[in-house]
Amino acid sequence: MDKVGIGVIGCGAIGRIHMERFQKVPNAQVVAVADVDQAALDRAKAEYGVSKAYQDYGDLLARKDVDAVSVCLPNFLHCPVTVDAFEAGKHVLCEKPTATHTDEAIRMIEAGEKAGRKLMIGLCQRFNGSSQVLKAHIESGELGEIYYAKCGYLRRSGIPGMGGWFTTQAQSGAGPIYDIGVHALDLTLWLMDNFDPESVLAMSYAKFGPSGKGSGGWATPVPDLRGGTREFRG
Ligand SMILES: NC(=O)c1ccc[n+]([C@@H]2O[C@H](COP(=O)([O-])OP(=O)(O)OC[C@H]3O[C@@H](n4cnc5c(N)ncnc54)[C@H](O)[C@@H]3O)[C@@H](O)[C@H]2O)c1
Repeated sequence: MDKVGIGVIGCGAIGRIHMERFQKVPNAQVVAVADVDQAALDRAKAEYGVSKAYQDYGDLLARKDVDAVSVCLPNFLHCPVTVDAFEAGKHVLCEKPTATHTDEAIRMIEAGEKAGRKLMIGLCQRFNGSSQVLKAHIESGELGEIYYAKCGYLRRSGIPGMGGWFTTQAQSGAGPIYDIGVHALDLTLWLMDNFDPESVLAMSYAKFGPSGKGSGGWATPVPDLRGGTREFRG
């Protein structure tokens, strides 16, 4: 089988992980990258050996050898770039959260259907070993009917990327629920076979950011409960 040509759009924190992981996929090759930041492009070229690098992602989408793209951009760019990629005939793996608003998510799905291309959202926790084992146990019927679930995801300290797109609502769309919350919700709903909700009740609050607390959480060493220290991202 020919290799699938991959374009990675956004070479920041998660874009670099995509590039690294694609190196381990035998039938895929990252053939081009795009980022508005030249330093990020230079790093991608040096670290992952990608020769074609563009500041305008349109140039990447114009390449015939790009079959599929990873959209690894700030949340508010997921929809426009995904739609552009579909219009250029590419398949799309877009990072989570899908978009900043429901109508954007619908536009993305419709653009993929119109183009006859696949859309996958980077809800990667489904692929963890523990998630796969639990899913297998549930599907085998061993646990009976799953009628109640509770999920949570705790970031112990620090608000990552304070002052950047991550904490700017117009660019991120929302706070923790859009960041780590989508992983917890997706995993729970997936394990319960993605039922259709009858209703949703929710509330949100902000105890730290607005009062100036919680900055400096990016890559801050914190004590590891098992002893020693580890890098804590966020
Ligand atoms: N699946 C996961 O667990 C996971 C983990 C981390 C991040 N993410 C998601 O990945 C996305 C990116 O997060 P990140 O932490 O890598 O952010 P980041 O800020 O580290 O990287 C974003 C990159 O996009 C580039 N960029 C911004 N505007 C651009 C444009 N118009 N054209 C081209 N490049 C542009 C920036 O220069 C930057 O290099 C977010 O949606 C985030 O939610 C997912």
